[in-house]
This record gives sequence, C-alpha cells and structure tokens, in this order.
Amino acid sequence: MTKILVVDDEANVQRLLQYTLKQAGYTVTIAGDGQEALRLWAAESPALILLDVSLPKLDGYAVAERIRADEGGRAHVPIIMLTAEKEVEQKVRGLRAGADDYLVKPFHQAELLARMRSLLARFSATEGSLSKPPLGRMIAFYGAKGGVGATTVAINTAIALHQDHDRKVVLVDGVLQFGDHRVFLDLGPDRKSITDAVQAPTVDVDLMKSILVKHDSGIDLLLAPASPEEGDLIREDRLTEVLALLRSMYDFVIIDVEKRLGDLTLSVLDHADEIHIVMTADLSCLKNVRLALEALDRIGYDRNRLRLVLNRSNAFTGISVGAAENALKREFETKIINEYRTAITAQNSGKPFSYARPDVALAKEISGLARRIEATSAAPTKPGTAVARR
Ligand SMILES: Nc1ncnc2c1ncn2[C@@H]1O[C@H](COP(=O)(O)OP(=O)(O)O)[C@@H](O)[C@H]1O
Ligand SMILES: [Mg+2]
Repeated sequence: MTKILVVDDEANVQRLLQYTLKQAGYTVTIAGDGQEALRLWAAESPALILLDVSLPKLDGYAVAERIRADEGGRAHVPIIMLTAEKEVEQKVRGLRAGADDYLVKPFHQAELLARMRSLLARFSATEGSLSKPPLGRMIAFYGAKGGVGATTVAINTAIALHQDHDRKVVLVDGVLQFGDHRVFLDLGPDRKSITDAVQAPTVDVDLMKSILVKHDSGIDLLLAPASPEEGDLIREDRLTEVLALLRSMYDFVIIDVEKRLGDLTLSVLDHADEIHIVMTADLSCLKNVRLALEALDRIGYDRNRLRLVLNRSNAFTGISVGAAENALKREFETKIINEYRTAITAQNSGKPFSYARPDVALAKEISGLARRIEATSAAPTKPGTAVARR
C-alpha cells in the first residue's frame, strides 16, 4: 500500500486528511511538527508528503529544504505544500524550497486526491533514474598511535565528501570503548549508538535509520557506545553485519578505527576498500606503521589500497618528510599541515572545521584528501579489487 506522510499540527486537519486518504486506499502516517516530519520521512520512506507550511519547531519550507538537501538529487519524494495563505510569494517560496505542488486550504478532497495521483504517477515512473544505487565504499582511518589526528581527519573527510561531492555519507565511530565523536560533534550520552543496533536480533534499514544521528553538516553518524563496558560487548559478526548494511545504504562509510589490532579491528580493516593510516613523523609512529603494515600483510590485505596520511606535516619532529618516507619505503599520499588552533577550536566547540570553516587551510587540505578518495571511487576498478568485494 502506498504510504503518505501527513505533516500538520492541527488535530482536525490531521483527522480529516487521515480519513480522506484511508478512504482512498492509502496508508497514513502523521507528524505534528517539522522535526517529527524529518524523523518519519527518514524512518518510513513515504511515497508522498503532504506538508503544512506553518508548523512548530521547523516550518514546512525548512522541512522541504532539509529533505531535498539530504536526497541530494539521488532520490525525490513528491511533496505537496498545504498553505493557508493565497499569496503568490508563498507559493514561490514553497516551490523553491523543494515542493512539487501546493494547495491552498481549504481545498476539495477530489482536488487533493487528483494532485496526489498525478505526482505519484510522475515520480514512480522516474524513480529508477533518480535513485542511483549507493557506491557502498568503506574507507577506514587508522591512527598509528594515540593523538596523531585520526579522528580529526576521519570526521572532516566524511563532511568534505558530502559537502564537496554531494555524496551520501555515514561516519562510524569504530573506537568502541573510548570513541570521541560525541565530544568532537557535541552530542550527549543520550544519543543512540551501535549498541542499539547489535542488541536487536537482526538489523534492517528501518531500525538503522532510527539509530543513526543526523549531523547538521548533512552526514549521518553511527556513534560508539556511551560507556566502555558496552563497547566491549560488541562482537565481530554483528559489527560486520552492521557495516554491510550501511554500505548498502550509503556512498561512503567512513570509519574511525580502534588502535588495538585485535580480531575486531582487523576484520573491519579487511573489509575496507581503502585504509588511511594517519601518523606524524616521529619514531614511535614509524615503528607502529611498520608493524601495522606487517600485520596487514599477514591477513593478505592488498597494499595498493593502503594510504599514508602524514598529519601535522610541518611540525618540527626532528624527522623530515623524506626521511620518514625512506624509512617506510612508501610515499605519503596526503600531507596535512599543523594548525593546532583550528583543530582544537573545532574540537572544543563541537563544530568540525570542514563544516564550520571550510575556507581555512586545514579544511582545504582535507578537501584534497576527499577529492582523491572520490576520484579513486569513481575510477573503473579492475576485477578482484575493491568493487568485487561488495
Ligand atoms: N593537523 C593538525 N594540526 C594541529 N593539531 C591537530 C591536527 N590534527 C589533529 N590535531 C589535534 O591533535 C589532537 C589529537 O587529535 P585526534 O583526532 O583526537 O587524534 P587521534 O584520533 O589519532 O587520537 C587533538 O587535540 C586535535 O585537535
Ligand atoms: Mg581518536
């Protein structure tokens, strides 16, 4: 049955529309405010939305804008705006926000149903061409030791892939015991986490959507548990299942990985299409990177899918970039400058620099990294490499 989302704060309008639509054979879901509308849109994937303009919390224009921004041209749910005002500006504003049609209240049932049918027909016919399948690439960020900037780079790269390349991105905090994303993104311990996904007997798209947290930048987040004990309970097979599901939903699954190379982490790394090892030019990082490379060799990981990221590349460490490359017999694909003020301000304010200050030098270098990831993903891949894994 075709599911319609009705968004209106007035109880009598809700009742009337529910009655009319059910009579016409539709399934109806009702939201009483803008935020609820966004949540139900994400959770229920309705076939069409009837959206009142004046709503508590987030008005109809803002709701339509958010939905269109999130769809990013890859999908298109038809939206009919319901407005009480007849003014032309209102109509234009609604259409500009992303509505497909509008109706002025009060309207006739027959007119509403006719407009709905025409939109449903139009969009179901083009759905195939509008919704490209997601790329499903998983990119892991692994820090050679604590404090090198793996989390910083992972978060900002995820945002840049979405902002610069219009990709659908989910960022996973894979540091299950002491994950930092709640701090870096200013989210409280009440937000849902991966624990909610693995505690359910099975996890599907709808459940996943109710657990993911939407970030203002437009990316979605799968947070680490709020306590270390919970993090310790997550098993490899369930984590693999969750990641596979996310790959079927997103263009990019960006995962910030635990440093400890246990079975769980190795399994995540093994499934990744690319691993970016984040390091600084110092002796303990050089040693750890060498050991990590050896460990990855032992699980048969394709070295062509490994990348080295030198963070804080111009900070004085006594070891030059060239010397570090020689020691590892590899080049750094990415070098990121040392800009402590920007990095720490972003962290303390809970607003990643690639989102809040995309023009600063640090954000531009992250954009460069995102561009390379995007380019590799778009390039045709030989059989037996990344794409074949999916
Ligand atoms: N390019 C950079 N320049 C300056 N400081 C940075 C840079 N990248 C990260 N930092 C800072 O380094 C510290 C550790 O970063 P974090 O991302 O938490 O590292 P990790 O996840 O590897 O432990 C943070 O205070 C962060 O703000
Ligand atoms: Mg970290």
